[in-house]
Amino acid sequence: MPRYADDAKEQVRDAVDFADLVGTKIELQRSGVNELKGLCPFHDERSPSFGINPVDKVYHCFGCGEGGDVYDFVMKTEGLDFVSTLEYLANRYGVTLEVQDEDPAAMERRRRRERLLDLLERTTQYYERYLWESKEAGPARAYLAERGLGEEVLRTYRVGYAPSAWDKVLLVTRRAGFTVDELQAAGLIARSQKTSKVYDRFRRRIVFPLCDLRGKVVGFGARKMAGDEKGGAKYLNSPESEIFHKGRILYGAHLARSAAAKDATVIVTEGYTDVIALHQAGLANAICIMGTSLTEEQVGELVRLAPRAILALDADNAGQEAMLRAARVAEGRKLELRVATLPPGRDPAELIQQDGAAAVTRLVEDSVPFVRFRLGRIISQGDVQDAEGKDRVIAQIRPILSAMPPSVLREDLARRVADRLHLSPSIAALLVVPDPSAPAEAVAPPAAGAAPAPAEGGHGLYGPPPAAVPQWEPEEPWAEDDEDGMEWGISEADLPPPPPPRMDREEKMERTFLTLCIARAADGRELLAKIDPEAHFTSPVMRRVAVHLRSHLAQPYEGLPEDDPDLTALIQQLIGQAGKASTTSASLQVEWLQLEMGRVDRAIAAARVAGEGNVGELAAERGRLRTELEDAMVRAVESDTG
Ligand code: CTP
Ligand code: MN
Repeated sequence: MPRYADDAKEQVRDAVDFADLVGTKIELQRSGVNELKGLCPFHDERSPSFGINPVDKVYHCFGCGEGGDVYDFVMKTEGLDFVSTLEYLANRYGVTLEVQDEDPAAMERRRRRERLLDLLERTTQYYERYLWESKEAGPARAYLAERGLGEEVLRTYRVGYAPSAWDKVLLVTRRAGFTVDELQAAGLIARSQKTSKVYDRFRRRIVFPLCDLRGKVVGFGARKMAGDEKGGAKYLNSPESEIFHKGRILYGAHLARSAAAKDATVIVTEGYTDVIALHQAGLANAICIMGTSLTEEQVGELVRLAPRAILALDADNAGQEAMLRAARVAEGRKLELRVATLPPGRDPAELIQQDGAAAVTRLVEDSVPFVRFRLGRIISQGDVQDAEGKDRVIAQIRPILSAMPPSVLREDLARRVADRLHLSPSIAALLVVPDPSAPAEAVAPPAAGAAPAPAEGGHGLYGPPPAAVPQWEPEEPWAEDDEDGMEWGISEADLPPPPPPRMDREEKMERTFLTLCIARAADGRELLAKIDPEAHFTSPVMRRVAVHLRSHLAQPYEGLPEDDPDLTALIQQLIGQAGKASTTSASLQVEWLQLEMGRVDRAIAAARVAGEGNVGELAAERGRLRTELEDAMVRAVESDTG
């Protein structure tokens, strides 16, 4: 990022015509000597409470309290960072930004980059003109029209056509003074291996310019014409280069930005035509991930566009896998994921064309939280006809639900799962508690014959980090798959809440903890000192055991009261088990954290019943514990395996 001169900010501010700038978003009317008014672009309203001062170049809304200067206005309405805002305004109001303190090498790089971008811009214009004006592009125009894409929206996305000749772009851009090296660096030409001659890379194709967030063209995706049998792969992309990195681009992001910022939502689709069709249908906040699996970098861009992403990827198996991967990549980021379920075999572009814009608007409105989609998929892929199949499904679902903080959503999901699998109340109650017998890794072995399910547990809600996923193979069609597990995820059901969890699981956990404390007295003493018997243990006798062990860990038989046979019997049992237990400090830590989780879960339940307001804090504490527990589990496994 170049460093601009210190006074650049003031210089640009001086040049901005603020009434014009705000006028691009809303209609303004004069309301005072130095005031213009209009409907606030930051919230919905019927009568104007938004005002600007075109002289001081500041704005304020009395309705929602938003306010600021020219920079705030652009950053908020366009979703840009400060430097991009500066560049955007400088460009719009004709200010040349002076770059400061640039070393010669950096200057050289910047110049080259600017030239390559210029080359790509000119090429885009050439392709655009070719699409709309040439005779050769007639069939391409007809094809796009037949797909329901109008000229206006195609021009917005700057769709073009690459002629069939081998040398058009080469000749045109050479004439404009670009070198073969520059053409190659921009990915516009290729070189024959045999003859080492150069030729246009994109020929006889509809071209979709791929832009960075600021709308600068950095590469192209090019689709061959329908019926072009010998035209090679369906899509041909610019090669990775010094300026083009496919994995960094969200197609259409520069056009989606302001709509996404306004709606606080971005719609994620698979293909170019989906984005364009959605935009035409009034959903301007759509982008596409170009058939690839979502990369970390793309997630970073998504987060900058909006706090919520609605995945509208194909309903086929590959599309669903892509959503699972997307969720794994997005895990830990501030991005709320939802899933909009497409009818099988159709992408948003087709849906709009066949069923109209309302169909896709409805689809987006009906989107469900990602976790709901996830569970629906597990159930639809599992064999829920027999008991073993159900158990396998439950084993996959349990870690997901138990990792969620207690919430109405979780309760609702658990209820639906129980209903769908016809579970008895006692089994249903287990859905939201972690399986204590499950190892830290791979709680859920993939069911035989099912598609390989991501391993659960130890990695939070979405499973392990994504494996390296192969990028698009040319000509590789999506695997078709007719299953439709989604009807489950959306329909409403109103069933009684699940019964309270059974106590014996807790008791088992408490016993294990105390046993291990005896087995590893040094660690045990430390942990027992931290115990709050009332809060950490669920039965009176277990509390008495804990209190006794606190002061008699080395010799538990000593100091036992005569009149408490239950205590004595339990201590005896624990000592017997401690003798057999082989344990590590890490596994004791796991038990301790489980106990802590139990404590917090009970506190949350109690706070709910009492209507106390600290549920949020407790849930946050639970989240922290959960992370600690996961880490401890990993360490326990490691220390076990050496
Ligand atoms: N894609 C790609 N390279 C490929 C195949 C696909 O970059 N070899 C990307 C493109 O961005 C494409 C998206 O994946 O838009 C989805 O692929 P597909 O569904 O095959 O394409 P559509 O755009 O839906 O094409 P169409 O409907 O015109 O057949
Ligand atoms: Mn498609």
